[in-house]
Amino acid sequence: MATNDDRGAASLDGAPLLGVCYYPEHWPEAWWPEDAARMVDMGIGVVRIGEFAWSRIEPRRGAFDWAWLDWAIAVLADAGLRIVLGTPTACPPKWLVDELPEILPADRHGRPRRFGSRRHYCFSSPAYRREAHRIVSAMAQRYGDHPAVVAWQTDNEFGCHDTVESHSPAAVAGFRRWLRDRYGSVAALNEAWGTVFWSQSYGDFDEVDLPAATVTEANPAHRLDFRRYSSDQVAAFNAGQTAVLRAASPGRPITHNFMGLFTDFDHFAVGRDLDVASWDSYPLGFLQQGPYGAGERAAYRRQGHPDFAGFHHDLYRRVGRGRLWVMEQQPGPVNWATHNAAPLPGMVRLWLWEAIAHGAELTSIFRWRRAPFGQEQMHAALLTTDGREDRAAGELRRVRDELAGLPAMPATRPARVALAFDYPSCWITGIQPQSAGFSALATALSYYGALRRVGLDVDLVAPGDDVSGYALLVLPCLPVLCEDWAAHLDRCAGALLIGARTGSKTADFQVPAGGEPGPVAGLLPVRVARVDALDADAAVTVSAVGGHVHTWLEEVEGPLAPRLCADDGRGVWYARDGRHYLPGCPSDELLDAVVTAAAADAGLTVRPMPEGVRLRRRGGLTFVFNYAAEPRPLPVAGRLLMGGSELAPGDVAVVADA
Ligand code: GAL
Repeated sequence: MATNDDRGAASLDGAPLLGVCYYPEHWPEAWWPEDAARMVDMGIGVVRIGEFAWSRIEPRRGAFDWAWLDWAIAVLADAGLRIVLGTPTACPPKWLVDELPEILPADRHGRPRRFGSRRHYCFSSPAYRREAHRIVSAMAQRYGDHPAVVAWQTDNEFGCHDTVESHSPAAVAGFRRWLRDRYGSVAALNEAWGTVFWSQSYGDFDEVDLPAATVTEANPAHRLDFRRYSSDQVAAFNAGQTAVLRAASPGRPITHNFMGLFTDFDHFAVGRDLDVASWDSYPLGFLQQGPYGAGERAAYRRQGHPDFAGFHHDLYRRVGRGRLWVMEQQPGPVNWATHNAAPLPGMVRLWLWEAIAHGAELTSIFRWRRAPFGQEQMHAALLTTDGREDRAAGELRRVRDELAGLPAMPATRPARVALAFDYPSCWITGIQPQSAGFSALATALSYYGALRRVGLDVDLVAPGDDVSGYALLVLPCLPVLCEDWAAHLDRCAGALLIGARTGSKTADFQVPAGGEPGPVAGLLPVRVARVDALDADAAVTVSAVGGHVHTWLEEVEGPLAPRLCADDGRGVWYARDGRHYLPGCPSDELLDAVVTAAAADAGLTVRPMPEGVRLRRRGGLTFVFNYAAEPRPLPVAGRLLMGGSELAPGDVAVVADA
């Protein structure tokens, strides 16, 4: 079982901290002292800098220009600010790309993706690994023991802009080596991949190409292994940097800023080499891109989906093994969604408080001053291009004052509900959706939402974690459920809620020997006879709960009678002794009924929330958030420390246990 290990690095502080992302290289040096003083005045304690500054630090190979960065750090430090220093490897400079063009990533057709934006490097490139090591070592030696440099960020948003997989010659060579290590013999690879199918057998590892640009669908096990390989390269690239930083800058926590709704590499694996997980929270940008319906997009256009930030806070708290920061918080309209809505007044305050409620030690706004040049001119900031305070600055000040007026923040306690999530599940449902739109991530989000709609706090867990302390264990969609963890779940006393496709594949992407749902059948007696993939017009109505099943519906065989049937007579919910199995993708109404029953089996009290309202407890405090565009009544009793008995749109309340 995975356990929390001792990482030694101290927390930044006891109290939640507010921060900002700053690019001193974008502004005249003469502005820096005033910028720093204004940050302090706003309540900012931490500044992240440096993560895109390689070409300013090293304008030509070996010709380092430290003077400006020394001065920027000195100015910020003199103002009393603490610094998170980013390694600049997300943006290799032009001279480096020209000198070593093999560091560029390649697209699915093997064509290089070119210089001129960012993230133009291939994780598999040995040359780039050496260059990253060189620049990170130089930075760590220069600033590793600077008293104001309190933490490091590796790179920036691994994988952003579809950069985890690269189809470069280095990736081909690396993948073949990786396969050799994994399988030992090509016969074992042929067996695992089932290459007898369509005459794909290989005679040697060196015959294996990347699974791209094939005539039709490539072998799914081949695709899954290439995803695993690519994910391992991200983890190794990160670990290369953390090794350098730990040696040259001991005692400083190391983080990486992960993203929302992003599953292209195994974040738990990267997290094992970090001290803190941080993520970049852009609730409005992701409302457009996420698996949300038209109704939700309309209702939450200026607020973001009520479960978007919470899910990621809870996920990254697990990735960081208990330690969570928000490295970038949306401050206003962003520039990269299809339509970039302006947040409702008050939303930045709500998002800041929500991060604190979920245990964030630091929440940092992206960015200080809006850039009048470059790709992100249309992205809001705390200051306008001409230096006036924009709306988010006022909301940040308000949070600063409110924090000062509240008692010390209590520690975050484990929740009573654990929801299991992992990355290979997302890869498997992406490779073989079977019904367009089926996604393990969307399924996890929908189960998470149902738990939060009845007022439950949730911890996200990874397969293999010890979950024996939880009252309710939820596995929305884990196609590969290993026998050991299934046995652990069987021994846990908690109630179980298991969603469709869990246990349906082996680690080699094959159907388990006893058929689907594999080891789930040992937890409750269900066997999947066949699956009906439901297109958008074919939702199956479940009038008993005013809901339906969409996308996927299994026909279940076995001794259990369905606990609930659809109007057409098909079983949509099976349960026995506190263990529940859902053979399809449930609508919210159906999931609400199931979650309520499973919570009752677990001895948990549910409290249906007014629409758009969410709760999160931290110690003896309950935080209440209104994501609705209309006022909502406060749904909890207790001693009000902040807010009133009615919550305005975007408002927050804090209630102490009576
Ligand atoms: C993040 C990124 C930042 C900036 C920001 C804009 O994804 O880390 O550098 O681009 O988005 O919203």
